[in-house]
Amino acid sequence: MRHFLSEFDLTQDEFLGLLERAKEYRAQWEAGALEPLEKHHTMAMIFEKSSTRTRVSFESGMAQLGGHAINLSPRDTQLGRGEPVEDTARVLSQMVDIIMVRTFSHETVERMAEAATIPVINGLTDLLHPCQLLADMQTFADHAGPIAGKTVAWIGDGNNMCNSYINTANLLGFDLRIACPEGHEPDAEILDRGSSKVTAVGTAAEAADGAHLVVTDVWASMGQESEQSEREQAFKHLQVNDAVMEAANPDALFMHCLPAHRGEEVTTEVLEGPQSVVWDEAGNRLHAQKALVEFLLNAAEN
Ligand code: CP
Ligand code: NVA
Repeated sequence: MRHFLSEFDLTQDEFLGLLERAKEYRAQWEAGALEPLEKHHTMAMIFEKSSTRTRVSFESGMAQLGGHAINLSPRDTQLGRGEPVEDTARVLSQMVDIIMVRTFSHETVERMAEAATIPVINGLTDLLHPCQLLADMQTFADHAGPIAGKTVAWIGDGNNMCNSYINTANLLGFDLRIACPEGHEPDAEILDRGSSKVTAVGTAAEAADGAHLVVTDVWASMGQESEQSEREQAFKHLQVNDAVMEAANPDALFMHCLPAHRGEEVTTEVLEGPQSVVWDEAGNRLHAQKALVEFLLNAAEN
């Protein structure tokens, strides 16, 4: 059974193929001519953390594919009362065609995939956010062409998004320069595996120097809210502002997975400025994930 828990669950060709398919889905959307799949499929979406984009893009995407999505929060299900994830996965496998999970520990999605007999998609864990990388790579390709050989600057927290950028740098062949404060570096194992494509630098300007894409994310991720003020101190030299964008390639794009905190990790000028593609990036979640769902359902049926 094929799952999408990490970027490395796809080969480079498969990842690039999904970006092409996502482009077709986007064109269909823009032309008002959606093409559903032949069969009706149901997705179970488990959200143990908040979501706007992931929830709406999967639910809307499943409807557009001629299927249906069921939103399951731990508050309303037996998961919240301690039913093991393995038991939940086995039961859902009897009732739906595909599962999407957003949770804290990455191990939870791995355990779910191990027990499920249908595809499982990682909708964000503390370790990785691979669905976002599909949309980011689609957005880069749309605006700037192939990303292989290009330079990407990651500025801020060594969090799930940063880890996913490291994996994707290796999968698609771009150079990644990361500026993360001491004590907030990316996952050591992921960094070790991706080290040939990653250079760690000390300042935002060094990371951005000549880069074709500048990316940041919130300083306190979901689950770290109590560390907000301490993190503001640790990260304040890493704000993406006009000076940082000026260090980048003149045609550089700016991305942020959103939600953004204006005046913290990014200024309003950059977020709303001409180099920012954050709204396209968010919109592409719909198209990239439809391509992903189609791919996984096809793989499960063949
Ligand atoms: N970028 C992203 O995953 O957004 P949500 O948390 O709103 O799903
Ligand atoms: N790093 C952020 C991403 C939100 C989409 C978080 O985990 O909260």
